[in-house]
Amino acid sequence: MYKDDVLMKILSGTSNLSLSRNIARQLKLKLVNTNIKSFADGEVYVEINENIRGNSVFVIQSTSTPANDNLMELLLCIDALRRSSAKNITAVIPYFGYARQDRKVVPRTSISAKLVSNLITNAGASRIVTVDLHSGQIQGFFDIPVDNLFTTPLFARYIKKNLKNKNLICVSPDVGGVQRTRGLATKINVDLAIIDKRRLQPGKSQVMRIIGNVQNKECIIVDDIIDSGGTIVNAVDALIREGAKSVYVFVTHAVLSGEAINKIKKSKINKLIITDSIDNTKKIKNVSKIQVLSIAPLMAEAIKRISNSTSVSSLFN
Ligand code: R5P
Repeated sequence: MYKDDVLMKILSGTSNLSLSRNIARQLKLKLVNTNIKSFADGEVYVEINENIRGNSVFVIQSTSTPANDNLMELLLCIDALRRSSAKNITAVIPYFGYARQDRKVVPRTSISAKLVSNLITNAGASRIVTVDLHSGQIQGFFDIPVDNLFTTPLFARYIKKNLKNKNLICVSPDVGGVQRTRGLATKINVDLAIIDKRRLQPGKSQVMRIIGNVQNKECIIVDDIIDSGGTIVNAVDALIREGAKSVYVFVTHAVLSGEAINKIKKSKINKLIITDSIDNTKKIKNVSKIQVLSIAPLMAEAIKRISNSTSVSSLFN
């Protein structure tokens, strides 16, 4: 007898197991049984302990710190699935690392976002699902479909519930983030201001000036990534200097490297709202200024729609 129903399965890498479990729970599925480990020399090993022949498999893995290990794990998971005859393989990458090197800013540098896209495609992925890509054009680095999901509706719901009746303004911390910030400003129906940030060296940022009036406003900064915290803390200081009353910060991907958490604790930020695209459970334990919103329901819904061949973009209308 011929069986033409394609079974959907969820396989997780080890970078963010709690998010994967949460997504699987929403989909009423169990994670595929795997054995993922590192050998003594650091090489990664992936073994799939169940039959996935002919299945449609979604591999969830954020390429967060340690970025190289997590990326390699993702590639090996995809390779193992391809060699085990999965029907199609969707790489679900909540945080797509290496995205910030998406063009040559100075001569003789690599474009890591393009290289990583090639690696994932060549490993055998047939589709990508990710969240708030650093720049939309990275979708074009792939020759397979890319579903770039947005956290704007999640953040807008939080603001409408928790920050209502405030004199709000949305602020982009740099010119590159204007489109993202305008999206949220439009959704919650408030004005937009822009910080003209100039980066003097990679990893260091300096705020130049603010375009727009933030006096007596409760500011909402929106960004895709908080890494060292420099961009956000400088932006908050600049807004307070310009007469802002308070500053709330919404960031999708909380990389939070080095001294970032201490900087946030000491800063004038009222609240930093992040998502769980990166697992920060240990790092942010007892940091009352930081609150996490889960993207699991959004990701689960997108996976369901992809599986059923229904519209993903209509999630954001
Ligand atoms: C830059 O273009 C990004 O959107 C972020 O603003 C930046 O990566 C944040 O980095 P950091 O926290 O180290 O300033």
